Amino acid sequence: MNTISKNPIYDLAISYQKTAALVAAARLNIFDLIGSSSVTAQNLADRADIPLKSVFALCDFLCILGLLVKSEGKYSIAAAALAYLKPGSGSRFLDSLDFLAAPEIMSLYLNHPEKFIKNGGSAGLGVTAENDRVWEKFAEAMLPFAAPASKLVASKMKSTHHSVSRVLDVAAGHGLYGIEFAHAFPEAEITAVDWQDVLEVAKSKADQANVGDRYSTLPGSIFDVSLPEKYDVILLPNILHHFGVAACTEILGKMKGSLSENGAICIVDFMPDPETLTPPEAVAFAFQMLATTPDGSAYTVEDYCEFGSAVGLKKTSAWRLFPTPATLLVLQQRTGASSRN
Ligand SMILES: C[S@@+](CC[C@H](N)C(=O)[O-])C[C@H]1O[C@@H](n2cnc3c(N)ncnc32)[C@H](O)[C@@H]1O
Repeated sequence: MNTISKNPIYDLAISYQKTAALVAAARLNIFDLIGSSSVTAQNLADRADIPLKSVFALCDFLCILGLLVKSEGKYSIAAAALAYLKPGSGSRFLDSLDFLAAPEIMSLYLNHPEKFIKNGGSAGLGVTAENDRVWEKFAEAMLPFAAPASKLVASKMKSTHHSVSRVLDVAAGHGLYGIEFAHAFPEAEITAVDWQDVLEVAKSKADQANVGDRYSTLPGSIFDVSLPEKYDVILLPNILHHFGVAACTEILGKMKGSLSENGAICIVDFMPDPETLTPPEAVAFAFQMLATTPDGSAYTVEDYCEFGSAVGLKKTSAWRLFPTPATLLVLQQRTGASSRN
């Protein structure tokens, strides 16, 4: 997408206005109202029930940013943005604004950012606390982002593991990772761990995906919940990054204790390469963790291997999940472990 100015300082200083314009357009359904046609400003003003001057201010701005184009006084969705904004399907990416650009999240970044840099973290939202509603928002809003990576993880594991009977999806959120395993391994029983309110979202998604009969839930904190079974696959997607080294090691030790003999732990996360500074989303994620958690970070593959090694786990494989920015790291017990990898 385009910048507002060639002066990088001016452009970056007012970048929050880009977020505001996108949120306004999403909440007023501007992209759906334009749809696949070209619409005059007056028509948009009538359909959205907003002043004509607001249509010009908002939609001309969105043209500068590359989301809309204006031709002969009519607005349409730019070809490059269609994949994300196409009315009906792609526009669900806009749902993620409910989490990514939630007011309580944005204020964490914009109010005194020097403080979380200086302190190496922030009080955050208590993002790992049970009563934080932010995770219900996440579970509802982030599905379009999780869909490609969750499919890739299930298909990678399917290519290396013949039979999987029990899967534990830790910090399941929307539940997509476990649900994709249920599709890939039709015999598998899935157990999801998360806070009770979040698990209700995951369970409803599992029902919608027709795997609800093999989907059960264990509410509570990962640190406290007792795990009654041994699992062939334990999924840790996008959870360890919230914690410091000691807590990550504690979680991995607990998960190792619940692995079946040849079981595998799948860490799916933003894992940056500090040399090449790739993928950019993973590099930027370290900043996100500083702003929103007390101790979290974007750990590298090597970091996670070290945490695993401390509790007797070894790396069996790691894959970048192209085209997503996520990496899948598979760990197994150091002794007695075997797989076709
Ligand atoms: C970033 S979301 C990840 C959701 C999903 N696994 C994914 O990859 O999209 C983090 C999830 O961890 C859950 N969570 C945070 N702290 C937790 C804890 N201590 N115990 C269990 N779940 C926790 C949140 O409720 C949320 O659903």
